[in-house]
Amino acid sequence: MDWETRFQTDDTPWERPGLHPALDHWADLGLLEDGQSIIIPGCGRAREPLELARAGQDVTVADLSETALAWQKEAFEVEGLPAHFEYGNALNFRPPALFDLIWEQTFLCAISPKDREAYEQTAHAWLKPGGHLLALFMQKDERGGPPYGCSIDAMRTLFPETRWEWPQESAFRPFPHPSLNGKPEIAAPLKRL
Ligand SMILES: C[S@@+](CC[C@H](N)C(=O)[O-])C[C@H]1O[C@@H](n2cnc3c(N)ncnc32)[C@H](O)[C@@H]1O
Repeated sequence: MDWETRFQTDDTPWERPGLHPALDHWADLGLLEDGQSIIIPGCGRAREPLELARAGQDVTVADLSETALAWQKEAFEVEGLPAHFEYGNALNFRPPALFDLIWEQTFLCAISPKDREAYEQTAHAWLKPGGHLLALFMQKDERGGPPYGCSIDAMRTLFPETRWEWPQESAFRPFPHPSLNGKPEIAAPLKRL
């Protein structure tokens, strides 16, 4: 996938018209406290990073599209809010300090499934013990991608209970995507052990 061209040509069907409803969901669960550090890998032109900064989070956005990162920079500059901008393959990024939170929104389903183990290693390395991966797992039965399906069975294998504490299944919350044929994303906060 040539992400840069997709942004340059505005061919971005994954973009939401408004904020992801999971923002309220995570806040209701008490997971979005002021002053936490949060990274949004594969941020694209999503509006949630700015909203998180407005709410007092210390935001890092990462993407390999220059156009997407430039869009984020401008959005933060217009509001006069600080953020950290990381250009390149997010899976290779090693931050100077560990994060409290990872905002996972249509990044894991965007990367090749062969890179998923590297994603899990990176996510674990990014977080403080007790920090959370705020996961939105894209549910999709069709083969191929992106988006590539992230079934809960596959995610339980990828994020094993020896390294991640999973919530009860009854606490999973599905959010249909407004485009992408309404495919649900299942919200599940995974605690890094
Ligand atoms: C499906 S888009 C989602 C964008 C954004 N999260 C949203 O919900 O609007 C996937 C994003 O991941 C970025 N991306 C893909 N592979 C990446 C990688 N290895 N490192 C950093 N960013 C990557 C793309 O440039 C794109 O912005």
